[in-house]
Amino acid sequence: MLPGDARGNSAGPDPNLALAPISGLRRDFIWGVSTSSFQIEGATREDGRGASVWDTRGQKGLIANHDTGDVACDHYHRYREDIALMQRLGVQAYRFSVAWPRILPLGRGTPNEPGLAFYDRLIDAILAAGIEPWLCLYHWDLPQALDDLGGWTTRDSVGWFADYSALVASRYGDRVKRFATFNEPSIFTLFGHGFGDAQQDASGLDDMHRAIHHVNLAHGAAVDVLRARVPDSSIGCVHNFQPCRPSTPADAPAAALCDAYWNRAYPDPQSRGLYPPLLHERIEPHMQPGDLDRIKRPLDWFGLNHYGPAYFKADPNAGFGFGFGERPADLALTPIGWAMDPKAFRDTLLTVGRDYGLPIYVTENGMGGHDKPDETGAVIDNERIAYLRAYIGAMNEAAAAGTDIRGYFVWSLLDNFEWDSGYSVRFGLTYIDYATQRRIPKSSFHWYGDLIKAARRQPGHD
Ligand code: FCB
Repeated sequence: MLPGDARGNSAGPDPNLALAPISGLRRDFIWGVSTSSFQIEGATREDGRGASVWDTRGQKGLIANHDTGDVACDHYHRYREDIALMQRLGVQAYRFSVAWPRILPLGRGTPNEPGLAFYDRLIDAILAAGIEPWLCLYHWDLPQALDDLGGWTTRDSVGWFADYSALVASRYGDRVKRFATFNEPSIFTLFGHGFGDAQQDASGLDDMHRAIHHVNLAHGAAVDVLRARVPDSSIGCVHNFQPCRPSTPADAPAAALCDAYWNRAYPDPQSRGLYPPLLHERIEPHMQPGDLDRIKRPLDWFGLNHYGPAYFKADPNAGFGFGFGERPADLALTPIGWAMDPKAFRDTLLTVGRDYGLPIYVTENGMGGHDKPDETGAVIDNERIAYLRAYIGAMNEAAAAGTDIRGYFVWSLLDNFEWDSGYSVRFGLTYIDYATQRRIPKSSFHWYGDLIKAARRQPGHD
């Protein structure tokens, strides 16, 4: 037991901290944790890595508290310690992403051997720990050099991504078999071109429609590359899918339009070969003959990232015609103000299972907070345990109702760089003391480890 380790300080059995129900889940269910390259690696200027758009955002001072990803969790140097934490948790799978600018500093052209070698070491250590690596090709850290050329708004991006995917597949495909093409394509295209500080005028929207289509084409191209180079691979795309609810009944059309952008703009063409009717006309000007066939390639699974429902209202001043709206006064919120609604998770699982017909892996779910060590140095995060327990319970209900759910990954193994919020919010099962880089497993870490142990003890489990 390490000093500050939450288990040594918990006050005894508490019914609120009981393990989640899992009796409806498959015997071969996979339990895991997720991270992403920019959020944990640090070492942004080391060993030849190029800049990403998130380095630029940090340099411009656009992140809360002027944070940057320069050090993050220093995972680039401490990955062995982090893999030891995963072993201690007992996870069977680890979802991480490769930083495109680490292996191709300019996004294309000459590969960077020291960067490639880092992921060799990482993957070998994950496998040596008896954990299955789940590699995501793109978790938002676009090389800045490609953004300078137009990024996803130019059709050239499809070829850049296919070449990058080929490099990853040929280098790691002997050891990695699980690949995700993109993490949450709708979120980076919506927030990059639509919401927040992004433009919402006609040209901004046009850029967003181009980007949506090119990312879909890049997904299809990467699936083909992976299938050709790693024939025994299992491939999916990871989607953020949350119920989009109207703030008032009059906002129903705005919420429906948002659902099309947020939830449907990627899975619909990827799995069904068509854009949602509300978007078709907007995207059509950027399509070439045969594109929908290039996008709809056979997939093995649907990656679902889910946190809670979002509320929208009509907003005639916004380019989209909608914006974030008021939420019901009695809606339960997490400490960082995200909706907490496990029933919405159950319903989302049922919807995704019904509409896309693929096995589902929940590739992200978790709770953000403002955790702090107590006077003994322990981090007691019972609120996170309550969240995970309720959400895993809801997943169990969806599975018992017949939805094909095969795995669940907590976001996240570690507290990390939470995009525009920087280090001000914490999603980890493990607390990071950023001043010393000390890792402190929170009480939720032990709870999740106990749950995995109980699940793996069930008869018939691997
Ligand atoms: C998801 C992102 C992930 C993390 C969590 C909290 O939208 O995929 O990187 O930021 O939210």
